[in-house]
Amino acid sequence: MEEPLVQISAEPAPAAPVEGRRFYIETFGCQMNVHDSEKVAGVLMARGYRPVAEPEDADLIFYNTCSIREKAAQKVFSRLGQFRKAGAGKSSNKIFAVLGCVAQQEGEEIFERAPHVSLVCGSASYPKLPELLEQLENGSRRVMGLSLRTEDCFETELTRRDNRFRAYLTIIEGCDKRCSFCVVPATRGPERSRPSGKILEECRRLVDEGFTEIQLLGQTVNSYRDPSPARLSFAELLVRVGEIRGLRRVRFTTSHPRDFTPDIVQALDACPTLCDHVHLPVQSGSNAVLRRMARGYTREEYLEKIDCIRAAKRAISISTDIIVGFCGETVDDFEQTLALLDRVGYDQVFSFKYSPRPKTAAGGWVDSVPEEEKGRRLVSLQERQRQIQILRNQACVGKEYEVLVEAYQPKLGQAVGRTTSNRIINFPGRPEWVGTYMNVRVTSAGPNSLVGERADNAEADAPPASRLRVAAQG
Ligand code: SAH
Ligand code: F3S
Repeated sequence: MEEPLVQISAEPAPAAPVEGRRFYIETFGCQMNVHDSEKVAGVLMARGYRPVAEPEDADLIFYNTCSIREKAAQKVFSRLGQFRKAGAGKSSNKIFAVLGCVAQQEGEEIFERAPHVSLVCGSASYPKLPELLEQLENGSRRVMGLSLRTEDCFETELTRRDNRFRAYLTIIEGCDKRCSFCVVPATRGPERSRPSGKILEECRRLVDEGFTEIQLLGQTVNSYRDPSPARLSFAELLVRVGEIRGLRRVRFTTSHPRDFTPDIVQALDACPTLCDHVHLPVQSGSNAVLRRMARGYTREEYLEKIDCIRAAKRAISISTDIIVGFCGETVDDFEQTLALLDRVGYDQVFSFKYSPRPKTAAGGWVDSVPEEEKGRRLVSLQERQRQIQILRNQACVGKEYEVLVEAYQPKLGQAVGRTTSNRIINFPGRPEWVGTYMNVRVTSAGPNSLVGERADNAEADAPPASRLRVAAQG
């Protein structure tokens, strides 16, 4: 057990009036976490709390945590420690809450490690958050929500979305796949899908509010099973969402290869608003490693899915996740992963060194590949992929793409646009273009992004073709 980060205060937390209380949330990890924080913020604001940008200004400080790899999990304790150093932990009335995967994984131990924490709550218990907050408001010093036995999704009308034009929307929570390396089934609980009618209703409302892109989320988004009598398949749901009038782009992540069926590709072909991009984590190119990972597919089966995507009527860009140095991975296994990169031709690869996790099957196995060797494999994989991306991106030069302008970099005078195939194009722009769609011609290419110029003939200061109605935010 590590030393406690701050002195234990025997005093109960003061029950200050809720009205006017300020909260700060810091989010670590995946899009699911980002979106969970948006929902938590909505619940808090409905109770009269106000968001602030700096933890120093907040009465309640929430950390929404990630434990997918050890480094990610350590971050929250270092944040809590920074507060102690700044003297804010023991003397002030600040209330600390740890949410998400580290909360679920460490549970009550968090109170031991960081006694100034008052709320520990895993994502499967978020539906109970209003009750837990009430206990905090009534002065309870230690409040926990850690049950994984749930059939509920965390649904709320109150979500406070941070982005004005792209809305995240959870369609399935949890995961039942139990890959041997992964903490998610232990931290997010069993798979549960939302009824398709509710999803479609929420999508329509988002479009009415001015959002033009919707990203459907789930740890295994394509394992979606409609619990309502409509019984829509995932592919049918995609098409129904894609057909909503006024919606321009629909993305979905993350797809699991085992449940990636040809009807998803047919949906992409049938419905132009579904984006030209599939994220399909492979994890390894070696059958021996895939078997130990319990991924539920072979290299050959995975490649069949890739060939099916490549046979679509339009070019679909493919990205993936890869773990190097998993238990027992030999040099030959690793070479097979490198060869898979060449065979598939990914547009983007997220690669990680294997990190043993508690409460996973592989957590109890020998972590046989030394850290330095994992590092070497990671560098070599990233270098191989860099070469592939340079070639793939160079093939875009001279072509025109529609982008959604997602940001503006004032120092460079550059707009940052994203193509439907998930490529980034930087081009000379204006701040007011953010949130609009425009055509851009690619003039040069690097491994990670493209450079371009606006291709529309429009005068530079004419209003952009499709300005967004900005969503009213709380
Ligand atoms: N639901 C997704 C993965 C979620 S985690 C799926 O079906 O693949 C995101 C990525 O983190 C994983 O795809 C994997 O590449 C990586 N990852 C998960 N556990 C890991 C571990 N213990 N060590 C290193 N990387 C890990
Ligand atoms: Fe994790 Fe495998 Fe599920 S990577 S999220 S257990 S599909």
